[in-house]
Amino acid sequence: GIALHTGRGNVTAGPGEAQEFFTGASFSPGGRTIFALPSRNLKGESNIILSVEDLPNQLSVRESLDLVVTEYGVASLTGKTIRERALALIDIAHPDDREMLVASAKKNHLLFPDQAYLPESGHFYPQELVFTQTFKDGLTVRFRPIRPSDVDEMRRLFYRFSDEAVYYRYFSPIKTMPHARMQEYVNVDYRNTMSIVGLVGEPGEGRIIAEARYVRTPGTPFADLAFVVDEAYQGKGIATFLFMTLIKIAKDRGIEGLKADVLSTNKSMIKVLEKAPYPVQAVLDSGVYELKIPLSEKLASE
Ligand SMILES: CC(C)(COP(=O)(O)OP(=O)(O)OC[C@H]1O[C@@H](n2cnc3c(N)ncnc32)[C@H](O)[C@@H]1OP(=O)(O)O)[C@@H](O)C(=O)NCCC(=O)NCCS
Repeated sequence: GIALHTGRGNVTAGPGEAQEFFTGASFSPGGRTIFALPSRNLKGESNIILSVEDLPNQLSVRESLDLVVTEYGVASLTGKTIRERALALIDIAHPDDREMLVASAKKNHLLFPDQAYLPESGHFYPQELVFTQTFKDGLTVRFRPIRPSDVDEMRRLFYRFSDEAVYYRYFSPIKTMPHARMQEYVNVDYRNTMSIVGLVGEPGEGRIIAEARYVRTPGTPFADLAFVVDEAYQGKGIATFLFMTLIKIAKDRGIEGLKADVLSTNKSMIKVLEKAPYPVQAVLDSGVYELKIPLSEKLASE
């Protein structure tokens, strides 16, 4: 729900007018209700809270509220479960408030007990890494760094994979992707691990159809690459674009080289990596290509 602040000196509307506005939006063709607010109020308290039960001027508009916007992004609530809404709203809360919100939402059984929280994920979210690209057949894909609230979309993507795609990505025929395991993929620090997702569909109702990441290997100048593209969208150049993007991000962040372990039968992944604008070194070991792409001159000459 929403509680409206109707303090003195503010431009305000009462709950009645807000309700009419919401109804008007839902009756308009293509109409959406968008609620924009700063993540914190003037006293520095979170505007995103667990419940508005104790506040005056409440509106119970859960079903008709589509998008909530703060300076940290957009939470799309349409068609989402209570748990998904809680995660989406926490993602746009002030980073210093997110830990408290996750903890209290867990306590109140709004989130699963195994819900992870990584302080870095809120503080270092790279807002600047957002872009849109058009591919073969006019397909437009929006890209942005992964967020903790992507957990359900990422699990849906996993369950759309064929057995072959799962094997190529995880090197083992895993059949399930439980919530607990997906936590480690969606809660990243954007420093040692960087992950970019690609979405199609209307902003706010997007479906994740691609994910690419690198993970720094401790004690080495390298980071390990991994990619996955929804089979319905393969062959359009999405992985190639993500590869070039990750090279740029890695270079900007001082990573000296990239590595990938690729099964020797995985022709499309090899084709993508061969497009690197750097010389690729390959070693074949028990059916797996260990590919190294030096980004720095120092590594290239070693
Ligand atoms: C590998 C993968 C990420 C590629 O994604 P994609 O978006 O389809 O890749 P792109 O469209 O950018 O490029 C694919 C290239 O492989 C080529 N290709 C596709 N299938 C091929 C095949 N069977 N044999 C040879 N080349 C093939 C395409 O023609 C294209 O090359 P081109 O641009 O020169 O024509 C995707 O297939 C995937 O998700 N596979 C399962 C998971 C996986 O293997 N991950 C990699 C582990 S690190």
